[in-house]
Amino acid sequence: MKNAKIIVGVSAGIAAYKAVELVRLLVKEGAEVRVVMSANAGQFVTPLTFEALSGHPVYHNLFDAQNSMEHIRMAENGDLLVVAPATASTLAKMAHGLADDALSCLHLAFKGPLLVAPAMNEGMWGHPAVKENIALLKSRGVEFVDPEDGELACGVIGPGRLADTAVILDKVRSYFNPRDDLIGIRFLITAGPTHEAIDPVRYLSNPSSGKMGYAVAERAKARGGEVVLISGPTHLKPPVDVDFKPCKRADEMNALVQEHLADCDVLVMSAAVGDFAAEKLEKEKIKKHGDEGLVLKLVPTVDILLEVAQRNSGKLVVGFAAESQNLVESAFEKLKKKNLDFIVANDISAPGIGFQSDSNQVTIIDREENMEHLPLKPKLEIADLLLDRILTRLKRP
Ligand code: CTP
Repeated sequence: MKNAKIIVGVSAGIAAYKAVELVRLLVKEGAEVRVVMSANAGQFVTPLTFEALSGHPVYHNLFDAQNSMEHIRMAENGDLLVVAPATASTLAKMAHGLADDALSCLHLAFKGPLLVAPAMNEGMWGHPAVKENIALLKSRGVEFVDPEDGELACGVIGPGRLADTAVILDKVRSYFNPRDDLIGIRFLITAGPTHEAIDPVRYLSNPSSGKMGYAVAERAKARGGEVVLISGPTHLKPPVDVDFKPCKRADEMNALVQEHLADCDVLVMSAAVGDFAAEKLEKEKIKKHGDEGLVLKLVPTVDILLEVAQRNSGKLVVGFAAESQNLVESAFEKLKKKNLDFIVANDISAPGIGFQSDSNQVTIIDREENMEHLPLKPKLEIADLLLDRILTRLKRP
């Protein structure tokens, strides 16, 4: 990051102390760092600390007569603005264009890319107002490093803890040294759940959010890969510039996979494909009849990975396994049965990880039975680690 001009915006949260380490590491990597603080951030860490570490005066007082135009000067001299930690209040100001302290004024004056790392109590993080402000900022192209799950300053365990400094640092690095190690590699990625209709208003499905598959697609694209993303119904926005193929049923997903398989180098099957569908799709809505129950006959859906294995496609194939017991044994069995190069297994009985979460804790097993238990990490990071392993295997003679 030699000569990268980075502005670090610090707002008033307990996690402000972590910004001290972030500034120190950025300086160590050769960046020229300026710090701007919100009106109350000084309640947590003094400007002097940041001044000593960055080697530059810290902008924190909007009404300092000597420095009245500092937000303009500083904004013109930065390549990237990193707001860490961003409190709920700072996010709201940024989303709605308020400018009543040094940080919020600088934010409006700054024309470059923005990276925001929020940190707050889990209730605040889950509040619709915060979610809407984040959605608004994302729609303007602001990038986020989401908070982690963990023990919060308020004693509660949940999402809201500022992302690890190493994760923020990595994201900052990627602005100045974008990774392009996947150029020329074609990925076919499936994500999300499937829906198997029972009648016109009901279907069988599962709680998969699609986040893991979308994360793999986002990172593969960002690192230069070509990506076809086949997705069951989710609430997620497809990553920019991926070739997006939506579908609902397992047989539709299968048809898309088989259609695109020949043109890919790597198949990543992260979709939670439903194993059963109703034998008969009722044309009209099924009516209830008093206390009478309903008996549905279910039939198995097509096993997409098994079909791929039977075609002996010669592609590098990655499967996923969501297990509630005997994680390693069951995952390993699937790896063999479906002739996979890797299987990514996660324990769905553990709270706070898996389907709907932004983080996950997975074990990656390869065909030689090498096993890696990864710690709890954001799905984007897991995606990068998985892509690293795929790349290594592709490069093997
Ligand atoms: N998969 C598939 N086609 C299906 C079902 C699953 O291709 N009809 C893929 C998933 O995308 C995932 C892997 O297979 O990569 C999961 O293996 P699977 O044996 O189907 O897992 P479960 O459905 O969880 O199986 P079980 O209920 O036996 O644990």
